Amino acid sequence: ALSAKHVREKQRLLVVANRLPVSATRKGESSWALELSAGGLVSALLGVRQFETRWIGWPGVNVQDDKGQKSLSSALEEKGFIPVFLDEETVDQYYNGYCNNVLWPLFHYIGLQQEDRLAATRSLQSQFSAYKRANRLFAEVVLSQYQDGDVVWCHDYHLMFLPKFLKEANSRMKLGWFLHTPFPSSEIYRTLPLRSELLKAVLTADLIGFHTYDYARHFVSACTRILGLEGTPEGVEDQGKLTRVAAFPIGIDSERFIKALETDMVRSHIQKLRGRFAGRKVMLGVDRLDMIKGIPQKLLAFEKFLEESPEWQDKVLLVQIAVPTRTDVHEYQRLTSQVHEIVGRINGRFGTLGTVPIHHLVVMQDRSLEFHELCALYAITDVLLVTSLRDGMNLVSYEYVACQNTKKGVLILSEFAGAAQSLGAGAILINPWNISEVAASIEDALTMKEVERKERHRHNFMHVTTHTAQVWADTFVSELNDTIVEAELRTLR
Ligand code: F6P
Repeated sequence: ALSAKHVREKQRLLVVANRLPVSATRKGESSWALELSAGGLVSALLGVRQFETRWIGWPGVNVQDDKGQKSLSSALEEKGFIPVFLDEETVDQYYNGYCNNVLWPLFHYIGLQQEDRLAATRSLQSQFSAYKRANRLFAEVVLSQYQDGDVVWCHDYHLMFLPKFLKEANSRMKLGWFLHTPFPSSEIYRTLPLRSELLKAVLTADLIGFHTYDYARHFVSACTRILGLEGTPEGVEDQGKLTRVAAFPIGIDSERFIKALETDMVRSHIQKLRGRFAGRKVMLGVDRLDMIKGIPQKLLAFEKFLEESPEWQDKVLLVQIAVPTRTDVHEYQRLTSQVHEIVGRINGRFGTLGTVPIHHLVVMQDRSLEFHELCALYAITDVLLVTSLRDGMNLVSYEYVACQNTKKGVLILSEFAGAAQSLGAGAILINPWNISEVAASIEDALTMKEVERKERHRHNFMHVTTHTAQVWADTFVSELNDTIVEAELRTLR
């Protein structure tokens, strides 16, 4: 599957994802500030340069006036980005509601509090309609951009109806759909009201991809159990029509990080950070402020470690970078307060007049962390802590490995992140719910001998630099081209 034989030189690729790689803020009637969006999908897809790509998505801002839409469209189109404008009501019902309050928690096995779950059930029909409406708007924009021979690659749980709407309009379109989150066990998925419609809509794609084999298997068994279709080693079959389902683990643009470490800007930042943290081991967490990331669990484990190993109290610090997201959703507001409370308590308990053990940095638009600062931080870090309760892949762990060729730091990685299947050989794998185990692994990581660190890093570095975002995209698109050719041959037989 790794051959790229069917990938044409600069094949035209329409990437469709809920969010564009940049989010816009209005600065005047026709003037816009564009900021890089957060998240794994954006950072991986930006590394994919081998196609002539048009990226279609929501610019993250509500613009209803003609002048605003036109000026923003032309600012974005210069970069190959095509906006899908969504009004406030749609964003609330589709993005905050159905996507992030229904599908997201379900796909990550996160139990909402009873009152939220009941509220979600009550508004489900209207949110589901908004979800379909938004998917139709995306379809209209894709169709306006589409040229014969283009490959259309739809991404994520926001756009599960998109393949259906596009195929209805043009059945010859080459169409793939990729999920960046886990797909849950069919036992969990079947609790979703309106579960069948979503599965049927996704199955109209020619190729369906997941990060891991387990997620693909869960999807196939949801189709067999809920829709009564046949699961085959190739995918899902419905009355002779096969939809290919397979695992395509994503990667990063590792070169971008490795090259950045050679620049003067990153080097001088590394010097600065080394000076600031001299005499202390640095542990790091970099997460979107999301309940799936297990940030409270990480903080509690760090607290337990400090409690049980007083000799480390003034010799280690945890830098926790948090990127707020979905701030209109209740569950996320609750998480923010919880994290602030725990950080405050730990810093109060173990801090001194001179310093605190946790440096908690909330990255906002006006306090963003530049790429060179992030690379420097990765490079000087002794231990990266990834404690996701469930995570599609977790590319932060990949970025850390890419920046560690000198230091050979240790990666503590949740076994519930997709990355555990690819970086498991070099990482210390943990169950984030077992606070004592995580605390013990912090001690192990901080005291690990250089020879073991080197060996673990070698495994992971090899993986990260060979299984890149570019290889991922080539593999998927090449498989999609093959799938179409095979389907055409089958109809001729
Ligand atoms: O991982 C799934 C995903 O949809 C990716 O796009 C990205 O990592 C993240 O979630 C972004 O979330 P949001 O756009 O809601 O902030």
